[in-house]
Amino acid sequence: MKDALSEMVHLEDYRESEFLIDKTELCFDLGDAFTVVTSKLHIRRNPKTFNCLVSPLFLDGSLDLDLESISIDAVLLPKTAYSLEGGRLAIFEPSEQFVLQTIVNIKPQDNTALNGLYRSRDMFCSQCEAEGFRNITFYLDRPDVMSIFFTKIIADKKKYPVLLSNGNPINREELDNGTHSITWQDPFPKPSYLFALVAGKLGCVEDRFVTSSGRSVSLQIYVEEKDLGKCEHAMNSLKKSMRWDETTYGREYDLDIFMIVAVDDFNMGAMENKGLNIFNTSAVLADPKITTDASFQNIEAIVAHEYFHNWSGNRVTCRDWFQLSLKEGFTVFRDAQFSADMNSPTVKRIQDVSFLRTHQFAEDAGTMSHPVQPNSYLEINNFYTVTIYEKGAEIVGMLHSLLGAEQFRSATDLYFDRHDGEAVTIEDFVRAMEDTSGINLEQFRLWYKQSGTPIVSVSSEYSENSQRFMLTFEQSCPDTPGQFDKKPFLIPIRLGLLNSNGESHRLNTVGDKEIMFKLLDKKQSVAFENISSRPIPALLRGFSAPVKLNYQYSDEELALLSAKDTDGFIRWDACQQLAFRVFREPSNLFGRDTCPQEEILLTTYEQLLSEEDMDPALVALMLQLPGEPLLHDKKNGVDPEAIHRRRETLRSSLAEKLGAKLEAVYHAQNSYQTYEPASSQIGVRSLKNTVLDYLMYTELGVELAWQQFKESDNMTDQSSALRCLVNCSRSVNYARIATERFECQWKHETLAMNIWFQIQSASFQKNTLVRVEELLKHSLFDIRNPNKVRSVIGSFCGNNLINFHKQNGTGYDFLENHIKILNDINPQIGARLVVPLTRWRRYIAPHSRLMRRALQRLSELPDLSKDISEVVLKSL
Ligand code: TRP
Ligand code: ZN
Repeated sequence: MKDALSEMVHLEDYRESEFLIDKTELCFDLGDAFTVVTSKLHIRRNPKTFNCLVSPLFLDGSLDLDLESISIDAVLLPKTAYSLEGGRLAIFEPSEQFVLQTIVNIKPQDNTALNGLYRSRDMFCSQCEAEGFRNITFYLDRPDVMSIFFTKIIADKKKYPVLLSNGNPINREELDNGTHSITWQDPFPKPSYLFALVAGKLGCVEDRFVTSSGRSVSLQIYVEEKDLGKCEHAMNSLKKSMRWDETTYGREYDLDIFMIVAVDDFNMGAMENKGLNIFNTSAVLADPKITTDASFQNIEAIVAHEYFHNWSGNRVTCRDWFQLSLKEGFTVFRDAQFSADMNSPTVKRIQDVSFLRTHQFAEDAGTMSHPVQPNSYLEINNFYTVTIYEKGAEIVGMLHSLLGAEQFRSATDLYFDRHDGEAVTIEDFVRAMEDTSGINLEQFRLWYKQSGTPIVSVSSEYSENSQRFMLTFEQSCPDTPGQFDKKPFLIPIRLGLLNSNGESHRLNTVGDKEIMFKLLDKKQSVAFENISSRPIPALLRGFSAPVKLNYQYSDEELALLSAKDTDGFIRWDACQQLAFRVFREPSNLFGRDTCPQEEILLTTYEQLLSEEDMDPALVALMLQLPGEPLLHDKKNGVDPEAIHRRRETLRSSLAEKLGAKLEAVYHAQNSYQTYEPASSQIGVRSLKNTVLDYLMYTELGVELAWQQFKESDNMTDQSSALRCLVNCSRSVNYARIATERFECQWKHETLAMNIWFQIQSASFQKNTLVRVEELLKHSLFDIRNPNKVRSVIGSFCGNNLINFHKQNGTGYDFLENHIKILNDINPQIGARLVVPLTRWRRYIAPHSRLMRRALQRLSELPDLSKDISEVVLKSL
């Protein structure tokens, strides 16, 4: 641990770079044995940091760079003038201004970490965020060093007809031995993390977009020839995003070309490289037959996200990686607004809250808890987290509600205008908000600095005599690693009051039925006058702040909120709270009898299923009980078996009692329409498949699922049916046949097969680990492909909690072994897989002890990567 700690990077150590790079000229000679990278850096001293001490120039690099030659101003450098240590290059007596040329050999074909230049199937591609560029050549690999780039790519013309980099192509040459070259120029100064290179035999789908000022932009999506028919949805999403950013933020695209390339091997979803976004195929390719509704929506959101980065990330970038949420939090907020506008805002909000509660709240309660602006890290790749992204987006969302839409837009205009072409900090963003609105955001800034999920406890008092209703709010925030005794946050709480008929009270003399209450103090009250009877408060409408809110509702009050509130989020959340109560009391958890909440949930669902004009998408969400990962989010005493069993009995008893209603809804929603990934249809399919999931506990379900599996013409229905059959103990034969048929039908479609792997790995059946071991030996499984790892190992350990947490520890041993393997292959992916083990403190014995033992053994491994050791060591 000591060794690891000494390599930590601290925010307080940030210093401006002593050197700048005005121009970067690169030449890549792509070969099968190795690739030669020639780099000419036009370097000069940073006038802002100039001091008389002649310090050496340190360039970031890596042990994988094989240095061929190094020269300054075209003169070879003697061995005494530089040194190479731990991959870093030091130039001892740099002058004021010079051109540094280095030639290095690298081996992209051996780069299984997918960080830097690497190969995915038959193509070359790159991933440089956050610090991958140093695996390509020696450089000042930090986001505040911005340079214009010229990139020449030389490669065999037959194997690599397409050669891409950032910006515009400025020169093409036919060379000897069947090679060719293309040179690209990117006129916008950018940090190295936004550099990209692609070479391969790729097909291209092309379209055009005319910007608001009338410039015509060529839009190009590059994919393997076989996938050319699956690009339409991504292209439409791109055009919608471009138009939306113009109308909503006044942001226009700035180059003549915008390219997207899809690659199979990719650590994350996609990457916003300037003018040349590189995507995981799973985030681009779509076809109703092999793509689920969820994926269609995910593709739309990711295309938008990466496109929006052109302004929030590229034109205005981050000063250092502690500012990561500056671009990610803001851009997630922007893509969520976009998705809400394109689809249903309520559904989008509920999905986001559900995701935040399941993943970010757990992260914030765990050993990797960190502020949205962290103070230190060992490996920056470990900080691409739900906290930086999703909690960061929630903070921007709170700024949006505090300022109002109009002021918020003025503030972003000011921010983009003021900082265009700069590398800035979160503070610069907040200051733009402050300068525009005149609102003092001093206390609000704590959201960026303090980690942990705030808890807001609310109590109420009603006086019939004075017709007065008073709410008292009290906030606290649990201690998190390195942080104790936190200061109170500014928490915006949107609220309304309902009477017993579910009608909204007027809350003030103006007649508002909803207000935004600003909780500033540790304890604070608000009173409402002329309230004729004891009201039911609807608190935190729209989930107006990322907090845990407690109010002692009666079960009946929750039922009323779920039926009558004006806010879809509140209606959904009331159902969630009712369901949670079933698991809260040990007597509920272990008892044999049904509990009162179960009865109320049942009547709530009965009413819901009888309502005529309800949005099917919302009904589907309300019918979905909290998932096991969320039910495991407790400080201690988590018993995976008890939770799983209780959830199953709850579902089966609901299914039994709702039987006929569910069946009717299933058939009503199953009317045939030509498939379209439109949100109206998506809602219908979502309700149908949610209902089918319940029906699996009844006699009828198995036949319905089998029929649906056979007859469906789209992946949403087909995969839902397969999942139902695989998870049901009474349909073993159908499950086997369906699994085989699915494989036979889709074995040539990688993305469809990922779903196949995922469904089986997440199966609740008892023998799943045995099946998972078989899947790992399947000819289509490849541990070097992150999507496959996520589909099998990630899905088993992250979603299949009943099987992962087997009493005998086989699930933990399984994960430990695969983390060891991934440590050598792809540490970034390995580190993400460790997370379920780090939650060992929550669990009852023997789970906690066995999980801890697995971590302990991992920590003792020689050659443990920084990525994995940071997560492992912090958790012990
Ligand atoms: N900036 C990317 C995004 O927001 C994130 C990303 C893509 C990334 N690939 C990565 C981060 C690899 C770290 C490592 O979508
Ligand atoms: Zn992003």
